[in-house]
This record gives sequence, structure tokens and C-alpha cells, in this order.
Amino acid sequence: MRLTDCHNIADFRLLAKRRLPWPVFDYIDGAGDDEITRIRNTAAFADADLVPNVLAGVESIDTSCTIMGRKSALPLVLSPTALQRVFHWQGERAVVRAADRFGLWCGISSLATVSIEEVAAMTASPKMFQLYVHKDEGLNRSMIQRCQAAKFDCIALTVDTIVGGKRERCLRSGFSSPPRFTLASALSYGVKPAWALNYLLREKFALPNLDTHVGEGTRTAVSIQDYFSTMLDQSMNWDTAARIRQDWGGTFCLKGVISAADARRAVEIGADAIMISNHGGRQLDGSRAPFDQLAEIADAVGGQIEIICDGGVRRGTHVLKALANGATAASGGRLYLYALAAAGQAGVERAVGIMEDEIIRAMKLMGVTKVSQLGRSMLRWR
Ligand code: FNR
Ligand code: LAC
Repeated sequence: MRLTDCHNIADFRLLAKRRLPWPVFDYIDGAGDDEITRIRNTAAFADADLVPNVLAGVESIDTSCTIMGRKSALPLVLSPTALQRVFHWQGERAVVRAADRFGLWCGISSLATVSIEEVAAMTASPKMFQLYVHKDEGLNRSMIQRCQAAKFDCIALTVDTIVGGKRERCLRSGFSSPPRFTLASALSYGVKPAWALNYLLREKFALPNLDTHVGEGTRTAVSIQDYFSTMLDQSMNWDTAARIRQDWGGTFCLKGVISAADARRAVEIGADAIMISNHGGRQLDGSRAPFDQLAEIADAVGGQIEIICDGGVRRGTHVLKALANGATAASGGRLYLYALAAAGQAGVERAVGIMEDEIIRAMKLMGVTKVSQLGRSMLRWR
């Protein structure tokens, strides 16, 4: 199987599975507990059917939209995800360049393996920094100030990760940050020599947005579950969120809202956007799928705040369904991470290109020439 054999996101997943040591693949692919939420996030889209309107004259269509004040070529955001240089040596650089090439928003994690400054210097496309609120106040301040200095376009505060999810695939594999080369893990790395050589011989692992303040995760290997449960500030509340929005002073998004009541509070504290998200099912298993919650949230706060439907998106039609149901845009992590792991920048570009192609085709078949024409009248529930 080669990159040119990948025609959808599921194909990239298979290629990633072939190329990655299984602990790394399972970290990307896996989720909390029974992974019911991870599965539901995608399955939810199948419960809504599209109702097209024909004879609409669709020879030229416009897939662009405005997301948090910035033009985006597609109604699609690449969500922030951690540790990308562990998945492929090109890491965040590959994802940022691909987003830049397509004119999309790109998220950078607090646990990114390249720095805020380097990302900012690489692209003029809109960039979102994802903030984890740590117990170390100085670290939180430092990340916000670095985003200000580097002129990031948005801070997304993740609110669904107050403790680590119970990711049983990671408990079994012993996956840690940075990856540990123990006798037990050596076999899984040894059977994927291309990955192992790249990981060992290329630029050394680092978490440059954190390692000025904390050693865990960079110098001391810890599981992601332990990192969250010991390093993050569990007293974080709405006052914390409001204060961060003020300290930052720029475009502000809450990532990980699921209830309509929280969406209303996000409006009250002056957030510009929410990402309806359960972290790809990696945190609270049993949490409702973003697409299932979208209508309720859009009815509660639509027009007062931008709504990004995050998670489970694997198809262009999923993006269209999210927009028809009230979202400004859809977003996702694994939809580009499998491709990154499979083939670096070329992989991410091919994956985003496939999403673009599917969005264009689906818009034409739906009989819409602009994304703003998508609405609830074009959806029916099973
Ligand atoms: C994530 N996600 C995530 N979210 C976040 O706020 N900070 C982070 O560091 C990460 N890291 C991360 C790593 C990996 C491997 C994955 C798969 C996900 C969650 C991410 O931003 C997004 O919410 C989910 O990926 C959405 O689900 P899908 O699109 O993967 O189904
Ligand atoms: C995860 C992180 C790091 O989901 O947010 O693994």
C-alpha cells in the first residue's frame, strides 16, 4: 500500500497502521474506556440524511467561509494535536505547511514538538494556539505572552481535559512522552525500522512550548494520562477562562464544550467561538457526539458565537452536514494525523486535498454554490 492508494481517510489510517510502531498508532487511534464516544462521533453523521436540490447551476462554486474573522478556503479547521514529530519526523511543520498551502486554520498544541515562534515564522495563514492550563502559573503566562509576541490569531482553551482520560490502549502499550525505549517497547519499534531510525537520528524530541518550565513530558517520560492528571490545574473554572481571555486580549475560543448551558456561558464571558468537542472521544467516554449536540447548541447560541463542530469528521459530506446543522465550520484531528503518520507533508496535503475534493463534489451534488446556502431544510433525521 502506497500513498497513491489512499483515497479516503480510512485508507490513510491503514497506511499509518502499517508504518507506525503499534504503541504510537494506538495513541493516535485510541480513545477513552470502551471508545463508544470515539465511534459515535463519526457514526452520528450517518443518522442525518442530506436532501439535495437539483438544477442549481453549479459550474462555479465557492467553498470559502470566514472563521473567527479570517478567510478560510474551506469550512474545515485542522484541530490542535500533540506530539506530532513522534508520528512523523516532519511533525507540525508538515501540518502547518499543508494548512498554509490550502489556506486553512491550523491548530498548534501546548504539547507541540515545534515552538510557537517557529510556527508563526512559517505561515501567514490563521493559527490557533491550544492552551492547557497548568498548575504552574508562570508557564500559562509564558505561553500566552509568546502567542501575543508571535501574533497568533486565536487561543483555544481546552476545557474537557481536567484529568486524563482512561485510554486503555495506552495503558497496555505503555506509550509515554517522550517514547521510552524499554525492552518491552523495543520490539514494537524494531519491527518498524524506518520510523525508529527517523525518530532516533533526526532532531531530538522536545516540547518547546513547555520545557522552559516543566521537565515532565520532555526530560522525564510520563504517560499522557499522568501528565494531565498531575500537571494541569483542576481548579480551573469559568473565572479562570474569563481571566485568560482578558490576559490574552485576542480572539478566544473554548474547546471542548458539549452542553448548551456551557455554550451560553461561553457567550457570557465573551468568547468568540466554541469548539463542540469531546476531544475525539479521548476523555469522557459516553459523552455525547458533537454532531448530536450541534442543533441544540446552535438553537441556544447561534448568531451570538461561532460554532465549530469538532471530531469524527472523515468525509466531505460530514462537513456539509455540520454546516447544514448550524456550524460555522467542522474540524478534526485524526483526519490529517493518519496521513501525517503515513507520509508526512505529502500525506497531509493528499488528505486535505481529498477532503477538499469531497466538499466540492458534495456541494455540487447538493445544488449549493456557497457554503452559506446550507441549512436545516437540507437535512432529515432517520
Ligand atoms: C488530540 N486532541 C488534542 N486536543 C487538544 O486540545 N490538545 C491536544 O494536545 C490534543 N492532542 C491530540 C492528540 C491526538 C493524537 C489526537 C487524535 C487528538 C484532540 C483534537 O484537537 C480533536 O479534538 C480531536 O482529534 C477530534 O476528533 P477526531 O477528529 O480525531 O475524530
Ligand atoms: C491527547 C492530548 C495530548 O488527546 O490532548 O492525547
